[in-house]
Amino acid sequence: MSKKTVLTILEKKHIGEKITMLTCYDYVTAKLISSQDIDALLVGDTLGNVKLGYENTLSVTVDNMIYHTKSVKRGNAGALLITDMPFMSYEITVEDAVRNAARIVKEGGAEAVKVEGGIEILDKVKAISDAKVPVVGHLGLTPQAINKFGGFKVQGRTEEAGEKLIADAEALEKAGIFAVVLEAIPGQLAKEVTERLKIPTIGIGSGRYCDGQVLVIDDMLGMFTDFTPKFVKKYADVGNTIKTAVKNYIDEVKEGQFPREENTYK
Ligand code: KIV
Repeated sequence: MSKKTVLTILEKKHIGEKITMLTCYDYVTAKLISSQDIDALLVGDTLGNVKLGYENTLSVTVDNMIYHTKSVKRGNAGALLITDMPFMSYEITVEDAVRNAARIVKEGGAEAVKVEGGIEILDKVKAISDAKVPVVGHLGLTPQAINKFGGFKVQGRTEEAGEKLIADAEALEKAGIFAVVLEAIPGQLAKEVTERLKIPTIGIGSGRYCDGQVLVIDDMLGMFTDFTPKFVKKYADVGNTIKTAVKNYIDEVKEGQFPREENTYK
């Protein structure tokens, strides 16, 4: 398996091959996912929802992201390793943005960072990219803006909102991002953005015309069930597999069926 880099991701758009990405937060899962030759692992700030049990992503810190990136890095067999910059780690000043991106790369071992937003964060995106850290954009339903949106709602539905999103995507491309995540926008809008940009679009809940797809690993494995967006496809029912295994273990211990001879040192 060859090591995937930013160039691999860019090249895939060029040759018309779909890009595959999943979120990942720990060593064991990184080992399992990357053994299947996935293109990119995203240490997403959905960490807050699916691993830390927060209501949303707003409480996640740069230290949280670094800790989990280190864990994923140790298990990663060759996927491009991208880490989210959490809420308010890049919005306040350009210096903050570069310093926090640098920490995520130097301490965590990420190979790229992802930031949410459009024209309003261009100066930060450009500064991070100029500091030699590859940047992924994120437009549409950007969960760090949850309080502004008033909930998890599909974005870009009006003509005006669609035009704004296209302008944001083009401006981010000019500022130096090498890919953009499009979350929960209409399929036709995602298609138009994908056709206009030279860099790849990675969709989540944005239809089939994006250059690649990303899902939250705990959603697609059926492990996180607090809420499941319509766009998620469950590829496995690991949550129920765990429950059944634990139930069997408890029963066997109580009934004296475990441990047996073969599980005991002579
Ligand atoms: O934080 C995250 O997991 C993400 C994905 C939903 C794209 O940004």
